[in-house]
Amino acid sequence: MRSHARRETRSFMKRHPTLQWADVGLRPDPVAAELLRDPDLRLTYNGRGAICRLLAALPEGAGSGVLVPAFHCPTVVEPILRAGKRPHFYAITPQLDIDIADLRSRLNDDIAAVIVINYFGFPAPLDEVRALCGRAGAVLVEDCAHSFLAANPVRPCGERGDAAIFSFKKLVPTIVGGGVRINNLKWPVPAPDCAAPVADTVRNIRRAAGEAVDNSASAPVRMLRALRTGLRGRRHAPPAPEGVVTNAATTFDYPYIERLARSRMPGYARRILAGTSLADVVGRRRANYAALAEVLRDTDNLRSLYRVLPEEVCPWAYPVLLENRPVLDQQLHEAGVPLFTFGETLHPAFERTGAVEQALLDSGRWISARILCFSIHQQLSPAQVREVGATINRVLASTGDDPVARSRT
Ligand SMILES: Cc1ncc(COP(=O)(O)O)c(C=O)c1O
Repeated sequence: MRSHARRETRSFMKRHPTLQWADVGLRPDPVAAELLRDPDLRLTYNGRGAICRLLAALPEGAGSGVLVPAFHCPTVVEPILRAGKRPHFYAITPQLDIDIADLRSRLNDDIAAVIVINYFGFPAPLDEVRALCGRAGAVLVEDCAHSFLAANPVRPCGERGDAAIFSFKKLVPTIVGGGVRINNLKWPVPAPDCAAPVADTVRNIRRAAGEAVDNSASAPVRMLRALRTGLRGRRHAPPAPEGVVTNAATTFDYPYIERLARSRMPGYARRILAGTSLADVVGRRRANYAALAEVLRDTDNLRSLYRVLPEEVCPWAYPVLLENRPVLDQQLHEAGVPLFTFGETLHPAFERTGAVEQALLDSGRWISARILCFSIHQQLSPAQVREVGATINRVLASTGDDPVARSRT
């Protein structure tokens, strides 16, 4: 995920939600409570740890290969290698659908598992994949890392495969936290038995507390913040305009740290998850998504991937394909549009395998070079998101990019 961190000070709208005091409140959220009590869920430090844990538990003789989409985040591929398996890739269409014929052609006796990603929280159609996996004896892993929630009714998703992967921090400001839920496996997947190092816990709690202070509206806390900022010589973001939540700590990178990936989900992350109103998260994200879809115009250069929001989806972001992205995303960012990328860098193992197969390589790279995500998270309001949509339209129009008819979905 590209961070745009160096240019963060120009943008007042955060790209991702950050902690607010209310998130650590004492009123437990019923959906989160049910999730955290689920006996089939193994809570891990992060989603990559969950993938590794699941694959490492596969029985001997299951096969050494794991099929994974050509368009991915490197953190989906690295745990395959760490679990002692070999990643193989299948093609993804420009609409982000699974290329079923390609996937079918790659299934063989040595494939132990197939990972399917629900990109941005939109469920990939799984019926055919499930049937193929069933015939090939491969485990179907539904990667729900982008959104662990479904809407209408609000609930955890990930019921369609043999196992599901979660990464809570994408939707809720838990800082870290992931899990693997076992739906249908005949062998055990043990829960992690070690805690993250103390230094990591201290660092993350400090970061969480800093976010909560930055987001606080109370006068004494604001004074504390001013003092803190003063003491640091104002190294961080300038004060936000009234009513806008800011945070400088929005940089994400994706190293695979073995010690952390093997650890359980820390208590502070569980606490934040337990205290967050997940119905609120789902409702606000959906409202913001709809608001952006209403205002944003597709153009010759910009195409919305999912203009229609299915009623069961809790979206991570509003994804588009953008031609000439390196130039245009910079202009959008400078105009204050909260945005980020996903899958901009593909795993080196893909670049190596793909090099032998040009069509496969192209399938991953084509999307990787164009994808852009607009933020629609719960701490933005529909009014802000509409304003963002108008800004995007304006920036694209200023480059001579013409709107196209509304019929595309
Ligand atoms: C599809 C997908 N799966 C798994 C992961 C890993 O999640 P985490 O960052 O919690 O390790 C990511 C991370 O972005 C992801 O995009």
